[in-house]
Amino acid sequence: MVELLPEGEKVVSNEQERAYFKRYKEDVRERGKPFFPYAMFHDTVMSLVVVCVIVALTCVWYFTSGEEAGDAGILGPRYADEADPGTTSFVPRPDWYFYFLFYLLRIFKWPDSVILGTVGIPTIALILLLVLPFIDRRRERRILRRPVAVVAALLVIASMGILTYKGATAKESLAGENVELVDEWAQVQGLSEEGIEGATLFAQIGCLNCHTYLGAGTPNLGAPDLSEIGASGQTAEEFSAYVANPAEFGNNVMPSYESQGEEVLRLLGIFLEESKGEGGG
Ligand code: HEC
Repeated sequence: MVELLPEGEKVVSNEQERAYFKRYKEDVRERGKPFFPYAMFHDTVMSLVVVCVIVALTCVWYFTSGEEAGDAGILGPRYADEADPGTTSFVPRPDWYFYFLFYLLRIFKWPDSVILGTVGIPTIALILLLVLPFIDRRRERRILRRPVAVVAALLVIASMGILTYKGATAKESLAGENVELVDEWAQVQGLSEEGIEGATLFAQIGCLNCHTYLGAGTPNLGAPDLSEIGASGQTAEEFSAYVANPAEFGNNVMPSYESQGEEVLRLLGIFLEESKGEGGG
């Protein structure tokens, strides 16, 4: 009989492997219990417990909350306020368990490395997890004897924790903060009254989520800086038409702002036309 594998032994010969498998089979025959009905029974009981907990929570939620929107019971309101598609102050944020990915996205800047951050790193991590059983074939299970795995796991947990924390506390450029910049813009660009109104709208309705303007905003999705867009020679009307329906001008990334109404579009157009960059206005 082949000597069985010593604990923690790295090199596994085929012979040892077979001997180990044989002993495992014998063990199962002597002391094992078949999957059906034993494990099935455990799974069924556990599933029932989970379903009962969900039903119980649903009852608590339903019977402690009121008919009115925002009338919250122990587990939140039955109805939330209706969504407002025209909102100008909504800051989109993911659920907390996605904060780490959300923060990765902020570290990687468009366009050079964003694919690495969104697709690359998570995919690499998943592939590593999948191939792990094929790479690490040692039988050692004691934590202290597996320093590489333990350190790697701790590093992953720590970095996810830090990223989650950073994501949770990340400061968004809120519309309100951007509006405070309008005075400065007016001075630099020499904006007219209507230009200032347009600038205020520009700061409020989310243009700065993709575009930058005199150092404000975050560059996203390849949107250009608009500080000197007025120097391109387009008229206010042309800008309004563009912002109303960017898709008509071959821009399928930027949303249509037609629903903002003619007056908003007109003021935005004037603002953009007057934005000729520092010293150009
Ligand atoms: C979701 C991102 C996004 C938002 C939000 C957005 N844009 Fe854009 N915008 C883009 C992209 C991307 C381009 C460049 C498209 C191209 O080059 O084909 C662009 C182009 C433009 C251009 C043309 C620039 C040029 O070089 O001619 C103007 C003007 C413009 N945007 C104004 C606005 C205004 C005003 C708002 C807010 C009302 C806004 N954008 C909101 C993504 C966005």
